[in-house]
Amino acid sequence: MPNADLTPYLRDRWSPRVFDPTHELTTAQLELILEAARWAPSAGNTQRWAFLAGLRGDPTFTEFQRYLSRGNAGWVANVSAVVVICFQTGAAPEDQETPYLDLAEYDAGQTAAHMTVQAASMGLHAHQFAGFDHQGVADAFGVPDHWRVATGIAIGRIGDPATSDVHEKDRSGRKPLSEIAYAGSWGAPLV
Ligand SMILES: Cc1cc2nc3c(=O)[nH]c(=O)nc-3n(C[C@H](O)[C@H](O)[C@H](O)COP(=O)(O)O)c2cc1C
Repeated sequence: MPNADLTPYLRDRWSPRVFDPTHELTTAQLELILEAARWAPSAGNTQRWAFLAGLRGDPTFTEFQRYLSRGNAGWVANVSAVVVICFQTGAAPEDQETPYLDLAEYDAGQTAAHMTVQAASMGLHAHQFAGFDHQGVADAFGVPDHWRVATGIAIGRIGDPATSDVHEKDRSGRKPLSEIAYAGSWGAPLV
């Protein structure tokens, strides 16, 4: 269990696979979640990220569904929105220089964290996923060659606890701090 003193948006965050198929997100709510992504920090403020976003039933969402892995197709069908996170990997034809390109993937990951926390503050759950045909999505949506499709983040209202995989949460354990936080020298636990 997470430390109870964590901010509730992080303490209660987890990645369910059962979402409420009747819940709808408004365009304004989706924009707010993307606004959270927009304000993520990035190296030199280069912001080498971009998003493909759709609400359940709209053309973007429906097209994206075609590329989902078998394991993800079922549950993603019930989420209220999907955001696909992309990041720049090379120079655009007009670019003279591309500073911090090597940090673009790192920066894009922070947008996912921002969206997750924003979703939590709106009473929603987010579930990130990489199980889809990345090249298929890139081709379908015309993602330029110097960009890469990274991950998807599904957002919605958690499903009915009676039918939901709430024990899935219990499987979501973590390494102890003593294994991952060092001080003095590598491997020497901070705590
Ligand atoms: C980059 C990335 C890829 C993931 N891919 C999938 C996926 O394809 N399908 C899935 O159900 N969950 C996927 N997950 C969710 C992880 O399995 C989940 O975050 C992890 O088990 C920790 O559980 P928690 O988020 O509930 O704490 C992915 C998460 C990340 C960050």
